[in-house]
Amino acid sequence: MSSEPRFRLGVLGSGKGSNFVAIADAIATGQVPAQIALVLSDAPEAGILARARARNLPARFLAPGRFRTKLDEETEPAYVRVLQEAQVDLVVLAGFMRVLKARFLEAFPRRIINIHPSLLPAFPGLEAWRQALDHGAKVTGCTVHFVDAGVDAGPIIGQQAVPVLDDDTPETLHQRIQAAEHTLYPACVAAISRGEVAVQGRRVSWRKH
Ligand code: GAR
Repeated sequence: MSSEPRFRLGVLGSGKGSNFVAIADAIATGQVPAQIALVLSDAPEAGILARARARNLPARFLAPGRFRTKLDEETEPAYVRVLQEAQVDLVVLAGFMRVLKARFLEAFPRRIINIHPSLLPAFPGLEAWRQALDHGAKVTGCTVHFVDAGVDAGPIIGQQAVPVLDDDTPETLHQRIQAAEHTLYPACVAAISRGEVAVQGRRVSWRKH
């Protein structure tokens, strides 16, 4: 075992936590040179918390305040504080269904990433797989991007395409996209953890050391 300090991840999620599991498993098998310092959720019963606790990882529910789609002026600093106390190097949004505002973004400049279930800039917002199906898209997929002040709008780190099949339902398409997410997200987190990802304006490049 190396005694080097490891790159520390703070994972935020509101849902079942399958992307968290994919990243945790990739860390366990040595594919991602990082450690999960903290898992945070705005939903006390979220699967992501139970799955983190089952792995003996620090996992906390943090009350989100009075809004439905963002944190309020008291809860946002509380989220920032616990992530700073946990000394996280990278904030990983894994199905965290709230928009982060300036104060949060400024605390972690270019150190917040998100996964979205479409090939951005197509289909930002909610239920992107359903949007793709309703639109009649033949190809969709998933995108990992840096988070900025826009909604699902920051510089793109990685994407994986997924076909839309004639007999797809929203559920079957979402499952196929999620399977792609579980490969793409750990690969992106690994590259960032190794310092291989550089950002210039909107353009993100991957450089092997
Ligand atoms: C993922 O499919 C992710 O792309 C989506 O939430 C799901 C979380 O699943 N995120 C968004 O739609 C954000 N706009 P998980 O809890 O099983 O990882």
